Amino acid sequence: MPTTVLTTPRSTTVRRADRHDAAYGEPMRGNTPREIDPAGAQALLAEVFDPGSDRLAHSLGVGRRAEHVARALDRPALLVTAAYLHDVGYAAAARDTGLHQLDGARYLRSLGAPDALTGLVAHHTSATVEAAERGLDHRLSDEFPEPSGDLLDLLTYCDITTSARGDAVTVDERFAHIYDRYPPGHLVWRSMQHAEPGLRQLVARVERRLERPAP
Ligand SMILES: [Fe+2]
Repeated sequence: MPTTVLTTPRSTTVRRADRHDAAYGEPMRGNTPREIDPAGAQALLAEVFDPGSDRLAHSLGVGRRAEHVARALDRPALLVTAAYLHDVGYAAAARDTGLHQLDGARYLRSLGAPDALTGLVAHHTSATVEAAERGLDHRLSDEFPEPSGDLLDLLTYCDITTSARGDAVTVDERFAHIYDRYPPGHLVWRSMQHAEPGLRQLVARVERRLERPAP
């Protein structure tokens, strides 16, 4: 069974999070390989985000929430790894187009991440809505097909129920924070307004599943 490794310029090793999960694909390459699993993901976050920053706190909070969801619903470690890395596109090393989902997916791909991981990062939390606002919708879907299955919804659930500081919050609190953070009419504010009804339905669906976990 091949080992999946992720590499950064001063990098580390990432092993497959789930050796039985073929979606993890072929081994990743790099100077100093690191396993692609939740621990490797957290190590990468520590490299690209400032200690004490909201980005780091939020990313760690979303990852922790995903640990809980993955356990409760018996979902693979890929969900947790994607949750830790979902906002890596905000890192200076990754920023390019301004669409953080696309920038993050490209950055992870450049490090050798498999399609199963980059697809989740590329499409989390209604990425297509903001991509359309930015005129990047075709580029996003051409480069990173939207993943099938339930992991994308679960990842988005974890993101939308975790505050900017990494604490668990209700969907109402999360939207209030987002609308507070960006002025009315801002591209992100408009995108969230557009995506909000679908995101609320998604959160309700996942919460119903969490009330009745897999046997
Ligand atoms: Fe996020």
